[in-house]
Amino acid sequence: MKLMTELDLKGRRVLIREDLNVPLREGAITNDARLRAAAPSIKQALAQGAAVMVMSHLGRPIEGEWSEEASLAPIAKRLSELVGRDVLLAKDWHSVAPLPGDVVLLENVRFNVGESANDAGLASGYASLCDVFVMDAFGTAHRAQASTHGVAKSAAVACAGPLLAAELTALERALTSAKSPMIAIVGGSKVSTKLEVLDNLSQRCDSLIVGGGIANTFLAAAGYPIGKSLHEPDLIATARRLMDHVEIPLPIDVVVAPGIDAGRRATIKLAAEVAEEDMILDVGPQTATQIADRVREAATILWNGPLGVFEQDAFAAGTRVLAEAIAASEGFSLAGGGDTLAAIDQFGIADQVSYISTGGGAFLEYVEGKTLPAVAVLADRASD
Ligand code: 3PG
Ligand code: MG
Repeated sequence: MKLMTELDLKGRRVLIREDLNVPLREGAITNDARLRAAAPSIKQALAQGAAVMVMSHLGRPIEGEWSEEASLAPIAKRLSELVGRDVLLAKDWHSVAPLPGDVVLLENVRFNVGESANDAGLASGYASLCDVFVMDAFGTAHRAQASTHGVAKSAAVACAGPLLAAELTALERALTSAKSPMIAIVGGSKVSTKLEVLDNLSQRCDSLIVGGGIANTFLAAAGYPIGKSLHEPDLIATARRLMDHVEIPLPIDVVVAPGIDAGRRATIKLAAEVAEEDMILDVGPQTATQIADRVREAATILWNGPLGVFEQDAFAAGTRVLAEAIAASEGFSLAGGGDTLAAIDQFGIADQVSYISTGGGAFLEYVEGKTLPAVAVLADRASD
């Protein structure tokens, strides 16, 4: 891939695709991590002397209709603070023509008809705005849409931005060229949604830690009682197959309660002693300590998904002990996925993880071993 940082951008019109799709509540940004991750790329392009245009999607609005909830107005405001320069919002992308040193944010690309269908006409319209197209939206690289893929195909020059390049480097370091021992932690509620993640990781890591509802399915597969815990009977055979391929240590103790809202009645039990009326909602302290020991010994740690219902104090200890062990680890640690980022925030370890991905779906697809279309197109354009 061509890299933005290696190109001469002086006086050039540079269009950067970022993923500025941040959570909002009543118009206020509730987590600006993606904006903080994108800002250095924009500053870098300005420092290289470019006239900068930035585009992104926000949410999933109806194409062809502007709506206030999906407008990038609050994002332009926050981005101005982070970039240290006024970021103007352009409602109509057709007429945008910034001068070198200026930054203009194009309104939500998902208002434009043809965006999600990767319409060639729309894509070449975006391409005609710029001399150089920079794909920097790792979080949207799994979408082949006009602003991620089509434009990269038809722009005069298409390259990878600094954030995209950093994400890919971190993923490669944690996955394809990982130092041993490598440990992967996959939590969350369902095996079915993480099946390809588990499959691919089982071929790459030395041990695979499962948590949340996923662990319950593995416990059931190993013949343990799981009471009325969330699990997937259809995937028990799959869980057994995975356990044949890689070491998947199962919880030795668990935190149970009569229900998810019954934190005050939480108790610790050995996995073998879970009763019919119990619901497993976290790993127990012995298990958490064992996981922490393994994390400490690992050279590479890949983390996706919590070990328990960490939003509630009674079921947060397992995920907290894991997060603290990752924070203390000397190994290379990579974390990604929505719930994981919420846990990292809750336990305040963001500065101690080697790399935190800005990708949710894109992160998972990469870990599944899939090719991200908006990355593949940059490789195709490398020699033009
Ligand atoms: C995300 O938040 O995962 C990305 O911004 C992609 O959004 P999408 O799932 O609406 O395409
Ligand atoms: Mg560390």
